[in-house]
This record gives sequence, C-alpha cells and structure tokens, in this order.
Amino acid sequence: MEAPLLKTSLPGPKAAALIARDKKSVSPSYTRDYPLVMAGGEGAVVVDVDGNHFLDCAAGIAVNATGHAHPEVVKAIVDQAQRYLHMSGTDFYYEPQVQLAEAMAEIAPIDGPVRTFFGNSGTEAVEASIKLAKYHTKRYNIIAFLGSFHGRTMGSLSLTSSKITQRKGFGPLVPGVFHAPYANCYRCPIGSSPDNCASECLGFIEDQILVHLVSPDEVAAIVVEPIQGEGGYVVPPEAFHQRLRGLTTKHGMLLVTDEVQSGMGRTGKMFAIEHFGVEPDIFATAKGIASGMPLGVCTARADVMDWPPGTHASTFGGNPVSCAAAVATIKLLREHLVANAAEVGAFLIEGARALMDKHPIIGDVRGKGLMIGLEFVKDRKTKERAVDERDAIVQAAFYKGLLVLGAGKNAIRLSPPLTLTKSQATTALQLLDAAIGEVTRS
Ligand SMILES: Cc1ncc(COP(=O)(O)O)c(C=O)c1O
Repeated sequence: MEAPLLKTSLPGPKAAALIARDKKSVSPSYTRDYPLVMAGGEGAVVVDVDGNHFLDCAAGIAVNATGHAHPEVVKAIVDQAQRYLHMSGTDFYYEPQVQLAEAMAEIAPIDGPVRTFFGNSGTEAVEASIKLAKYHTKRYNIIAFLGSFHGRTMGSLSLTSSKITQRKGFGPLVPGVFHAPYANCYRCPIGSSPDNCASECLGFIEDQILVHLVSPDEVAAIVVEPIQGEGGYVVPPEAFHQRLRGLTTKHGMLLVTDEVQSGMGRTGKMFAIEHFGVEPDIFATAKGIASGMPLGVCTARADVMDWPPGTHASTFGGNPVSCAAAVATIKLLREHLVANAAEVGAFLIEGARALMDKHPIIGDVRGKGLMIGLEFVKDRKTKERAVDERDAIVQAAFYKGLLVLGAGKNAIRLSPPLTLTKSQATTALQLLDAAIGEVTRS
C-alpha cells in the first residue's frame, strides 16, 4: 500500500461526519490532536474513511508492533476466536495463556525462572507490579520518577507525573509514593552536566529521599521506565539504570521496569533495559505485545511472584484471543522485527539528526531503534521550549499524510510499526522536513 496518498481535503466528508457524532457521545477526556478517522490499515499505512492513505509513525501510541492487520497475527486471532473467546484464566486453564507465559520466560530480560500475571492494559500491568512488589517485600512505599507515565488507574496514576492534567482533580492519590528526578541529560533536572547527570539524579534518592523522607527498609520498589515515553522519549545514560540496580539490591528493594511503551522490540532489543546491562526483578509490558489486542502482563522472578491464590486476578486478563495474538507477535518479533527495528531505527535516527543541520528548531534527537524523540526549542542555547511550534508541526505532518504524536511538552515521538522499511523511513523524514519547514517559515 502506498502512502501518503491524499484524495480529499482533511478531514474528508465521512471523517467530518463521524467526528461530529463522536463529539456528542464519546467522553471528552480524550486528546485527539488531528481528525484522523481510521477505516483500515496494512503494515505502516493507515487508510481513513475517505480513502486517504497516511504513513503511520504513531502506531496507535506505539502499539501496532507487527503493523496493521499482520496476516499471521490476524490468523492467530481468527483461529482462536473460532475455538473459544473466553474462559477466564483466573478460574480455569487454557493453552494460549500458558504458551504466552512460556514465551515471556524465553524472552524475559531476567536470568533464571520467571512467572507471568495477566491483565488487559498497561496500567493493569503496572498495578500488578506495584501490588506484587508490596506483597513480596511486605513494604509499602514506592519511588518513581518525575516526568514518568505509568497509567491512569489510581495506583499507577500515583506514580505517573508526566502532565499535571493527568493528576489534577483526582486526589488524594495512593500514599507512600516519592518522586525523584529522571536523568534527562539534555535538560538535567538538577542542573548538572551530562557526565554527572546520572549520579546527581540518583544522589537525590540516596541523599534526600532516603535520608529525609522514607527509610530505605520501608521502600518496596523503585519503578522506572528504561526510556521515558510519554515524558518525551528521554534516554538516560547507562550509569543511571546500573546505579539504580545497585541501590535497590543494596536496600532489599525491587527494581520494577515499566516496558509498556519501550518493550516488545521497539528499541531494537526485545526490552529496552537490555541496552543498559541491567536485570529488573519485575517488569510490566503491554502496548505492542499483542499487536493491538488488549493485554498487559507483569512478569517477575519466580521467587518474587510468591502471592498465593486469590491475592490478585482479573476476569478478562490474559484473554485467550489476546494471548494467541501475543504468541504470534512474539514469533514475528524474534524472527525479524526486532532486528528490523534496530536497523531501520538507526537509519531514521541518523536521518532525523541530519535534519538538525537544516532546522535549528530541532534541539535534540534521541532514541533507540524505532523509539525516537525530536525535541523542539526556540533557541538551541537557551533551550526554551517550542511548545506551540511542536503542536503545529504535528498538525502540519498530518495534513501532509504523516501520523506522529507529541511527547512531553515540546517533543515529537516517532513510534512506527516495527515493519517500517527504509523507504518508508525516508518518506517519513521528507514529510517531517516539509512540515517543520512550513511551520518555521510561518
Ligand atoms: C510507560 C507506560 N506505562 C503505562 C502506560 C499505560 O498503559 P495503558 O494506557 O494501556 O493503560 C503507558 C501508556 O502510554 C506507558 O507509556
């Protein structure tokens, strides 16, 4: 399928009609940046209801790992749906759930036996991780990071600290959560140089939080995104995760990695934490795991997942159709898509860095594999955030046939399906170049 291919003005008549209906009946809490109304898709191409083709560098917020409607994933879904849709892994046994738990054990970034719990979404995977950490350690405090996004149910929302609008109006949140600065070397939150950024951010935990606010032996876990997603696609230095591992081990805390956005091959390794040479005790996965079917999993060292029957469960969690989709997805990731994410991702990052020569508004390009962030600034020296310009570039890209999403206050994320080809990456760069040029000229 070719993209972009725009046949109508945007939104076209059918899209406009559906958006009008949506506005009357669907929750106003959703943040739709532009009027895309999906009708179909194939690989990294999305077709809207008016027949317009878009190149997809958003993948339904980093979800469609194998591309839209990958035939092998669709076949796995149909085969399973024809047999049975639901039986609840909470009370009964079925093979797709066991198969997926076995597949998770094979790919987990943990040496030694692991076990897996099943939910339906990223936030549920994080909730399960928090509950397990508390249950196992018999401690009740959690340390998380500023700028993080872990979901919107009350437990994970208490850790989330990306945008204030996500928290405002919902307090009081779960007590016992402490936030530390995340090592963002482009804008060190405590004004350090890139070389010292990791140690100063970790120093905040060691010298401030654990000295003034909470005793280390009462902290169950540190929960961290290996690469911050919603917060702006921020890649911390290796030392950040390595020191976090050292700190948690020293104090008997668990290290929980939230791989909901960064996992399942997106960064060119199966899990982003593998780039840092660190093993978590528990990790949460969702989004790309089942190519778009709802699924969230929490995988942990077998000795950590020691909660007895009845402590935690979900009626729909680990639905057989979603598990079948996940098993098919993991097979494709292992066969070639993780490698493709590494190769095409490196090509796309290099291309995005080359755009910096032409567009001074791009302050930083960072990422791993196909998890790429471009941060926009009014001035490279002052790093003043170009928030309106970023929003305008997202819009301009859409009207040129490229789907991208914002991340953080002033970054754009490129999170295409892992099937993206180099030729599609080149097209994405051309469209982005044109969109940035259009906005900066005006
Ligand atoms: C790192 C991370 N954790 C958790 C979540 C929550 O996932 P969900 O929206 O499926 O609940 C997200 C969603 O964007 C995420 O990026």
